[in-house]
Amino acid sequence: MTTATEGRELTQIGPGTVMGDLMRQYWLPAALSSELERDGSPLRLMLLGEKLIAFRDSAGRVGVLDHRCAHRCASLFLGRNEQNGIRCIYHGWKYDVEGNCVEMPSVPPHRDFKHKVRIKAYRAVERAGLIWVYMGSRAEAPPLPPFEILDVPEDELKVSLIQRDCNYLQALEGDIDTSHFGFLHAGHVGADELPEDDPIYHTVTNRAPEYHVADTPWGTQYAGYREAGPGQTYWRFANFLFPFWTQAPNGEFASHVHARAWVPMDDDHTMFCFLWWKRGDSALTRPPPARKDGTAVGGAGRVNKFLPNTTDWYGRWRLTANPDNDWEIDRAAQRSGAIYSGIDGIHLQDQAITESMGRIVAHECEHLAASDLMIVRTRRRLLAAARALRETGVRPPGADDPALFREPRSGYLVSDDQAPWQDVYAKQVAAARHPSQIPLRAAE
Ligand code: FES
Ligand SMILES: [Fe+2]
Repeated sequence: MTTATEGRELTQIGPGTVMGDLMRQYWLPAALSSELERDGSPLRLMLLGEKLIAFRDSAGRVGVLDHRCAHRCASLFLGRNEQNGIRCIYHGWKYDVEGNCVEMPSVPPHRDFKHKVRIKAYRAVERAGLIWVYMGSRAEAPPLPPFEILDVPEDELKVSLIQRDCNYLQALEGDIDTSHFGFLHAGHVGADELPEDDPIYHTVTNRAPEYHVADTPWGTQYAGYREAGPGQTYWRFANFLFPFWTQAPNGEFASHVHARAWVPMDDDHTMFCFLWWKRGDSALTRPPPARKDGTAVGGAGRVNKFLPNTTDWYGRWRLTANPDNDWEIDRAAQRSGAIYSGIDGIHLQDQAITESMGRIVAHECEHLAASDLMIVRTRRRLLAAARALRETGVRPPGADDPALFREPRSGYLVSDDQAPWQDVYAKQVAAARHPSQIPLRAAE
């Protein structure tokens, strides 16, 4: 059970909050590199409850600054992105990507004090087509987490952003809750309808899996498991990685390379950032699911439809299906059993469910079950790490040693290995090959 107080500590991420301090220990993927043009319009960026602007200067460098001009707080979103800096249109003060005031043309030269003026600026780097921001206070930022997916060549990498209108934690918890798959996503599919080698065959054979859950160096891990014939076990391994990453079991373990970030924009908006390998195995690279008789399994749409981006703080990467149109639920499809949820698309089903809980779920109203073990464990791990940072200054996992984010993988497999679950996982990781060693599948 999570109390209301614990819920607040877990979900509030603004400056000075327990979890906000924890989040500021890590690099955050914040925008696509393609969202910023050299000398182009600045971008409104809401990140960890702070209103920022991002811009690309004449030299191609990215600046991420407090959106307020240091003079009288006019928004630099309206600013002119000029030769190597952004100029406030109120009195013309100009700032470079590091937040230094480099021109103060509205005061006589002998009264100029620009060298004393600086606005808050955060460090930014670009990698994998993303702009990453470090909002911590350390003089030297830690290295980027060396996720395996970041080794994939850029032309084999797919990166997408989708805004979700709820708290980062409830969005994230959808990824570490494997028992919903057999209902929300596949409630309309019977095991007898599927070929035995179908990736969801075992999921729909037994919709109430058992779990193992444990703390790991990078966060937490679960293994959902079911019997899969005499002496065989169907395993689904998945991870939570500090501070908001997941790896879900939606691909074959041996070649499933991906990472999913639930980046808090503020307490009740999240930017989902998904990096996946186009040539590895995943639900997105496989042919669409089909029954034995060749008919398509409904509700498995993969194309997310977006509204045009706007310049609003919450205007980027929004889906057309949203709370205002009931996520375009099709009651006829729900009633007929064509789609259990009535909502078409795996991502959209997850989005609808987590947004339907309200912007921040009332944790004290939940009744957590045995199938929520991973959620409980992850909340405890996050909270303990955030409190340790606050109370004793101990940095959370991976903040000092991001190398530990290298190992984890997720995915499913069938095995006759009777070893304890973490030994099965360790052996599979040891046998799993780096993307460069895996034979290429046809690209999408
Ligand atoms: S408020 Fe920006 S220059 Fe005056
Ligand atoms: Fe889901």
